[in-house]
Parts: sequence; C-alpha cells; structure tokens
Amino acid sequence: MNDFIADPATYAKGVPHEHFAGLRAAGGVTWTDEPALWRHSAVGRTLQRGTGFWAVTAHDAIIEASRRPEDFSSAAKGAFLVDPRTVADLNTARQLLVNMDAPQHSRIRKLVTSVFTPRAMRELSESVHQHAAQIVERAMAAGTFDGVTDLAAELPLLVLSDLLGMPREDRHLLYRWSNNLVGFDDPEYGGGDIEAYRATFGEAFKYALGIAFERRENPRDDLISLLANAQVDGKRLADREFCQFWLLLVVAGNETTRHLISNSVQMLLADPALQTALGDSPVNLAVEEFIRAVTPIMQFRRTATRDVTLAGQHIASGDKVVLYYVSGNRDKAVFDEPDTINLRRDPNPHLSFGIGPHFCLGAHLARMEAAAMLQALRPHLSRLRHAGPVVRLESNFVNGIKAMPLHVEGSPH
Ligand code: HEM
Repeated sequence: MNDFIADPATYAKGVPHEHFAGLRAAGGVTWTDEPALWRHSAVGRTLQRGTGFWAVTAHDAIIEASRRPEDFSSAAKGAFLVDPRTVADLNTARQLLVNMDAPQHSRIRKLVTSVFTPRAMRELSESVHQHAAQIVERAMAAGTFDGVTDLAAELPLLVLSDLLGMPREDRHLLYRWSNNLVGFDDPEYGGGDIEAYRATFGEAFKYALGIAFERRENPRDDLISLLANAQVDGKRLADREFCQFWLLLVVAGNETTRHLISNSVQMLLADPALQTALGDSPVNLAVEEFIRAVTPIMQFRRTATRDVTLAGQHIASGDKVVLYYVSGNRDKAVFDEPDTINLRRDPNPHLSFGIGPHFCLGAHLARMEAAAMLQALRPHLSRLRHAGPVVRLESNFVNGIKAMPLHVEGSPH
C-alpha cells in the first residue's frame, strides 16, 4: 500500500518533503493509493477508501495540467481529493467556484473579479496594518499566548469579517465553520462526521443568506454589498451562488493565511539567522519566500476528461489527478537550494496560489496580510520562545498548525 502522502495522519508530523523529492525523481507523475478513513453518519460508522490517484509532483507537470482545464477538469468530480459521496453532493459542490469549469466558471469569476479588484484590496491596506499592529501589541502585553489562536488566526478573521459584511464579534463563527470543514479528517475538529459537516454548511448558508437579503435591501459602501448586487450579462448571483461564494471566502481567506503566518513564525523562531535576514530583506520578497516554503494549501485535485499523457505518463479518462503545489515548490529543476529559505529569492515562481484559470483571487490580500504581520512582529521576534509543543493539523490538504504556545522572554506573565 502506497498511501503515505494521501494519509492525513502523515502531516501531523510535518510535510514529508524528502518523500516528495523521491516522487519527483521517479518522474513527477506517480500512482498513489488512498488510505481507508473512518466516516460517521446517521447510518453509523463506515470505512471509506478512495480510488487512488496520479500525484503530480513536478513543477512543470503541475503547470501543464493547470493550463489544460479542458483535459484536467475541476468540475467532473470537484477540486477536492475525496470524491463527493453522492450525485447530490457533487451537484452542490459544483456551485463552488473552485469546482467549476468554463463557461460557468468564467461567468462567476468575471463577476467576482469585478468586485475583488487589486484597487479594492489596496483600499483595505490601512485597516489590515492597523489590525496586525493591535494583534501583536495585545499578544506581547499578554506575555504568554497562543501563536495560532491569538496571533495567526486573528488577522484573517478580522479582515474577513470586514470583507464579508459581518460584525467583528461574530468572527469566532468563521473560525469554527472553517475548522469543521477543512479539518474534517482531524479527530479534534471534523472527526470525519458527515452530519456535522452538512450541519456546518447549513448554519453558514443561513448566516450568508441573511447578509445577502440585508445588503440587497440596504446596500452599504462595502465589498459584500457590491457582490450581492453585481451583475454580469444582466444576471446577478443567485442566492445559492452568493452563499457558496461567501462560504468559499470564509474558508479560503481564513485557513490559508492563518497557516501561512503560523508556519512562518515557527520557521523564524527555529532560526535566529532568518530573523536577521527578515530585517535585511525587502518585505515583498520575504513574504513570497514564506508563501513558497510553507505552501499553505498543499494540493488541489482535477479529473482527466479523456485519455491523456502528462510528463510521459499515460492517464486514463476519469482518473483522479492531484496537483501537489507543496512539491512543485521544492523542485530543484526550478529553485536553487529549494529546501533553504532565502528571503531574497527572486524570481520566485512558486505555485502556492495555483496557476491557470483558478489562480487564487485572494493572492493580493494574503500577501498584504502576511507583510503586515511580519512587519508588526519583526521587532519582537528575538524575545519570543516556545512555551509548549506545536500541534499540527491532521490534513492532507492544508499545511496547518492548531496550537503553538509562546512566551515573551522577560514578561512577568
Ligand atoms: C496564503 C494564502 C492563500 C493561499 C495559499 C491560497 C491558495 C489558493 C489556491 C492554490 C487556489 C487554486 C485552487 C485550484 O487550483 O483549484 C486558490 C483559489 C482561490 N482562493 Fe486562495 N489562497 C490564499 C488566500 C486567499 C484569500 C485571502 C482569499 C479571499 C479572501 C482567497 C480566495 C480564493 C478563491 C475565491 C479561489 C477560487 C478561484 C477560482 O476557482 O477561480 N484565497 N487559492
């Protein structure tokens, strides 16, 4: 059984970079089995095993597959590694932008990009920097704090509550919903519980629908009002489309940036020379290198729509194909000394935001948040110490940290 990189438990000990290097050396497109995973539902406990898939681990092969969406579909079975359980689940999944192909994808993406412009993101800049400064100040004053919940998670949650049109006090809801959905395989979060997963969707949709109604009746001067009312070809987003996109932002804008910040802090604390290098490097290059080295979303999935060849490997129509950005980002054919964190690396053609028609819509925002947090933290890094074990998420999808107790040296608390 060759299911190592597909097993969520593998990642509790860290990303298996050496193993990925072996897969790249073996050709960059290799067959992987899937482990049997426990699922709970109203009918009881069942053991489910996926079909297995082609792991695409070489940088050039990931780019090629991403740029051939007609051969490597996001909609056929969705963009997530685990197959939808029923046709109804697949149809629901297809209402989410990441699980669409053209022409539907192009329509929704056009509507959303008309609202998520680089300019609109830049206008958030001041509040992002203010939030980061306040979060760091609060944590440092506390003396002992958690690097995930009190620091890394807080910035995306505050930014998202502004972006999604919800009161900041409700941001814990976003934290819980995204933990339940993305942490589906982790025993502490989703625990493989299908009913709980569906209930989380229901709860979040109800909340989003309330916002859609409200912003259509009384539009405000915010992005979510624009999104609720925007039109492409004379058509506005249907309620379900709006809710799906809203929930995608909850998950995409929350987990990703959180794990980027927490993993970056962990890398900085492990290496004082990196802390010095951070002070000496242009912040945009440093951010880009952390995004490469961490790769917060490790993979997305496609399905072959016909018999194809990728990097010399024959792939049959209907086969599952998983694009391992986390591996492409350490491909020595593209990056010098890929396992070294070089905060001046330039160019840095990492794949952390994907590539092709599904390229991340939040890339500007994520870069801005990471830059704001690194700048706010930099003067304090040399006084931060681990105060307990770092606990990693059991997920084969996001490179996540659940807990990272920290202490400020010299603090009385
Ligand atoms: C470091 C942080 C982030 C990383 C690593 C990341 C990564 C990604 C990746 C890899 C994809 C491609 C999906 C695919 O290939 O199927 C994607 C898509 C997407 N991301 Fe991000 N993301 C981040 C932050 C954000 C933020 C902050 C937002 C919004 C607030 C966001 C919104 C989206 C959306 C809406 C899509 C879907 C685009 C489409 O399917 O056309 N992301 N992201």
